[in-house]
Amino acid sequence: MALVPLADLLQKADQEEYALGAFNCNNMEIVQSIVNAAEAESSPVIIQASQGAIKYAGLNYIIALVRQAAEGTAVPVVLHLDHGTSFEQVMQCIRFGFTSVMFDGSSMPLEENIAQTRKVVEIARVFGVSVEAELGRIGGTEDDISVSDKDALFTDPAEAERFVAETDVDALAIAIGTAHGQYKGEPELDFDRLEEVNRRISCPVVLHGSSGVPDESIKKAIGLGVRKINIDTNIREAFVGAMRKVLNEKPDEIDPRKVLGPARQETTEVIREKIRLFGSSKKI
Ligand code: G3H
Ligand code: 13P
Ligand code: ZN
Repeated sequence: MALVPLADLLQKADQEEYALGAFNCNNMEIVQSIVNAAEAESSPVIIQASQGAIKYAGLNYIIALVRQAAEGTAVPVVLHLDHGTSFEQVMQCIRFGFTSVMFDGSSMPLEENIAQTRKVVEIARVFGVSVEAELGRIGGTEDDISVSDKDALFTDPAEAERFVAETDVDALAIAIGTAHGQYKGEPELDFDRLEEVNRRISCPVVLHGSSGVPDESIKKAIGLGVRKINIDTNIREAFVGAMRKVLNEKPDEIDPRKVLGPARQETTEVIREKIRLFGSSKKI
């Protein structure tokens, strides 16, 4: 089927209290893993492209791959821009067929983040494209966040309330203790903050940096209103881990299909497990 906007899927997820997996893609095999997993679970799915993915594969290849994947399946697929960095890039993605965009103004002063996000929402609405924004700093696992930094970096619930009221975004990514990349220890999530943000805003919450977050914390976060969960690092681990295994076992292998095929298979299994954990199986 044709690509669908995120907002339509979020509405059903919110009503039925589950989360949608948003999986990062970088090449054809990962796009296929995501769609194969969604099909096997009869689940709607979000395929997203990061700045790194766009740089690596090129925007046109990503669009062509994901559109092809969506048209060949009966499960609803969203093509989403992950961490859109500029107004121009977001507009380009809307023009070229993305059905959802993230405008990440989290490094801007609040007023500017509100103003630019609002502008993106006004235009995206005309094209039926959904918008995710970010408030608070999610960062990477390499950023050492001290306890005293937390109040400055984590999302302020009062600011979140104002931000959503003034921008009318479809989803809001918040900082509650997750980080992008591989965690050194077990991440501790600020569930009280999540609960308060969710109570004060009218749109669903997005959790970034979700690879490595314990299953129980993921379930608790879904119970407190998280409706989109971003996974990239677990995909990288599965994909490259399977490639490494083949090459270790058969160092003379020269057929890329014999290396990438098992990587695609392993990645599909990891994504299926995530979909089951998020509760979106059989929700098409
Ligand atoms: O936003 C988090 C993703 O893991 C992005 O990483 O730009 O290296 O693809 P990337
Ligand atoms: P992880 O790489 O930690 O799974 O985070 C993915 C993400 O948040 C993409 O926006
Ligand atoms: Zn992210």
